[in-house]
Amino acid sequence: MEILKVVNLSREFGGLKAIDNISFSVKKGSIHGVIGPNGSGKTTLFNVVSGYYKPTKGEVWFQDEAIHPLSPYQVCRSGMARTFQNLRLFKKMTVLENVCAVLDRESGIRIVDYILFPKRVLRIEKETIAKAEALLDSFGLMEWRDIQADSLPYGVQKRLEIARSMATNPTLLLLDEPAAGLNHTETDELSRIIKYIRDEMGVTVILIEHDMKLVMSICQTITVLNEGHLLIEGTPEAVSKDKQVITAYLGGEW
Ligand SMILES: Nc1ncnc2c1ncn2[C@@H]1O[C@H](COP(=O)(O)OP(=O)(O)OP(=O)(O)O)[C@@H](O)[C@H]1O
Ligand SMILES: [Mg+2]
Repeated sequence: MEILKVVNLSREFGGLKAIDNISFSVKKGSIHGVIGPNGSGKTTLFNVVSGYYKPTKGEVWFQDEAIHPLSPYQVCRSGMARTFQNLRLFKKMTVLENVCAVLDRESGIRIVDYILFPKRVLRIEKETIAKAEALLDSFGLMEWRDIQADSLPYGVQKRLEIARSMATNPTLLLLDEPAAGLNHTETDELSRIIKYIRDEMGVTVILIEHDMKLVMSICQTITVLNEGHLLIEGTPEAVSKDKQVITAYLGGEW
């Protein structure tokens, strides 16, 4: 079954076609790779799919709902979460607070509730902390619980960003270059985390990555973009043997 369907999607920036007439779909329960040289439109694709940019043309269907007319907040509510190519953590908050901040948005507590229903607020806050701790535990972050985000090693910050995006309880997670800047050990850890998210949390993952070893080892399907176009799509084996893909990446790390 398809969880996401992108139909003839285009996005232009003042005449530049960042993505041009792209159609593809993502199978529920898969890890789906998106690769392509720098500037080929990968992040733009995520920005349009997640509602940050409106498409110039085309449609995005998520769990059979048209989501291209929705705002990023509404897309997030519908069950899609994402991370960003550049980290967007709350730098001065602790690891626990970063996750609680997201969970709090879901809790529906209003300022007046602190005065009107203090017991209820206290109970909800306790539940929120318990939920956040469970999430931190799943992502091996409990030992960093009370550390301020900007004091964490880079690899841990990236892991926290993924944990925080999972706090919205998504069915689809979009990861934009999660391995960028990570060393080998951290990348292996990331690979385990992505598989855990799919296998244990039942979440479909779309992964933009330049780290070919990572993409080839965990993705079932790979969509290749080049200059805003969809070049080919297929299994890791088929894609890695394709002449056009090799040419598009020549001089790169392929
Ligand atoms: N907000 C924007 N305004 C103008 N041009 C943009 C904007 N966002 C992206 N672009 C342009 O669209 C093209 C695709 O950019 P995009 O960031 O999607 O590429 P990418 O595949 O994610 O590249 P990278 O691998 O370097 O992250 C580029 O030419 C870029 O300069
Ligand atoms: Mg990008």
